[in-house]
Amino acid sequence: QIVKISDDALARAGGADKLAAAFEAKGCEVHRTSSWGMQWLEPLVEIDGKGFGPATLDDVDAILAGTSDKAIGVIEEHPFIAGQTRLTFARAGKTRPLSLEDYAAHGGWSGLKRARQIGPEKIVEEVTESGLRGRGGAGFPTGIKWKTVLGAPGPQKYIVCNADEGDSGTFADRMAMEGDPFALIEGMAIAGEAVGADQGYVYLRSEYPDAIRKMNAALKLCADIIAPFKCEVRVGAGAYVCGEETSLLNSLEGKRGEVRAKPPLPALEGFMGRPTVVNNVLSLAAVPHILMEGGAKQYAERGMGRSKGTMPVQLAGNIKHGGLYEVPFGITLDELVNKVGGGTASGRPIKAVQVGGPLGAYIHPDQFDIPFDYEAYAAADALIGHAGITVFDDTADMGEMARFAMEFCAAESCGKCTPCRIGSVRGQEIIDRIRTGGRKRDELELAPQMHNAKKNEGRSVEEEIGLLTDLCETMKFGSLCALGGFTPYPVMSALKHWPGDFVNNPEAVE
Ligand code: NAI
Ligand code: SF4
Repeated sequence: QIVKISDDALARAGGADKLAAAFEAKGCEVHRTSSWGMQWLEPLVEIDGKGFGPATLDDVDAILAGTSDKAIGVIEEHPFIAGQTRLTFARAGKTRPLSLEDYAAHGGWSGLKRARQIGPEKIVEEVTESGLRGRGGAGFPTGIKWKTVLGAPGPQKYIVCNADEGDSGTFADRMAMEGDPFALIEGMAIAGEAVGADQGYVYLRSEYPDAIRKMNAALKLCADIIAPFKCEVRVGAGAYVCGEETSLLNSLEGKRGEVRAKPPLPALEGFMGRPTVVNNVLSLAAVPHILMEGGAKQYAERGMGRSKGTMPVQLAGNIKHGGLYEVPFGITLDELVNKVGGGTASGRPIKAVQVGGPLGAYIHPDQFDIPFDYEAYAAADALIGHAGITVFDDTADMGEMARFAMEFCAAESCGKCTPCRIGSVRGQEIIDRIRTGGRKRDELELAPQMHNAKKNEGRSVEEEIGLLTDLCETMKFGSLCALGGFTPYPVMSALKHWPGDFVNNPEAVE
């Protein structure tokens, strides 16, 4: 009897390895597959297409006897899976990550094969036609980026995969690398074919040991298939700012992970000063599908407006059914969080949802009808980013979350520019002063992190809020990169929607 159990890090953290050993001890043939992405059900056991989860060692006998109360029915028919359009994650749950046989049997390498037949110009044309935009967050058209690199003078060019997934509530890059590493490698090889680069690097964070292991093993296994393209994994040391492409390139070159001013664009002067494609894992992993016969057209038909194709949305935080949900652009937050996600895990009402990681805006339930679309989010002063969705219930203190945004920025700032380096520290102080209402610190019981709240120098709460707004404007428009530039989004959205969490007198901030 074949039993499938994921070897994804999340399933392993939940006891999947011991579970697999227990089924083996019962004489079953265990296949360690990728994860379906239904994280609340991991470790999920699959037998003949039917699922059981979250399974523990105590469930083994009942699962084999067909009497388990953890049965969820046919996995592919589960509403969480049936409601998705899986293109990038088409193989999720179905294949063994390091099996070349499984990969080829599920359409693997056909994109690369075709790319080699049609040549650079046509590859770039098809990627452009697909409408694929950078999935790392900025949403820049991938085809145009590749065209810039293709047109840049050679002889040496590079493909760099940004796998420094640092946003809170995101895990799609990790799942892609752990679950379907050949797809990312195929995407990189196609990018190499498109722009004339024969060397690639995957810049991967040290916090992802399973992904590092899998990517290294996969690269060894498929070296002959992707040749003459070569690719290596480089491990970063865990600085959030190294997810910013120029800082990443510095780190890759062995330098301090400090942001470089743009221009020059990495597309023209990137790694070692050479033309370089820097793309996120999800952008590159979407490419093999796009390069298949008719793939580009099929991709472009999905989504809305200028946001084409699908987005692997990551549902996290205080949510009942968290996991990976790949869906065409256009879906609303209400559908994602309430219908698909089932509301909060705590059962309490949702207070806020942060979309796009620690630099993303906090969205109020009144705005849950905004469609998932780059432009619609920008118009609402929000961002899709890497599509991480973190849910908070009504016990969240949004004043504290706004302060955390400034604190995070101060801790992770590379220090190159003043609005970010100094603004984030001043921002914390102003928020502390607003939250203490100008009263003396020793009159209040303050959280430890608020002890550096300076006296407000006679300013009223309204004036402090004006100061915070000015500071946020300066950070937004004066910072060199998105870290300082986007920190105002969580701060200002929290202040706008939940003023009562900042001060005792909510009218003061309206
Ligand atoms: P950006 O808008 O400056 O650039 C986007 C990309 O397009 C870059 O790769 C840039 O080099 C390229 N580009 C721009 N013009 C080009 C041209 N004419 N030809 C070729 N390439 C061109 O945005 P940036 O600063 O790279 O990224 C900001 C985004 O990063 C934010 O939207 C945020 O959501 C996201 N982010 C993602 C994180 C993650 O963990 N994935 C973490 C933090 C931020
Ligand atoms: Fe560095 Fe912050 Fe300036 Fe970005 S915004 S360059 S992280 S100091």
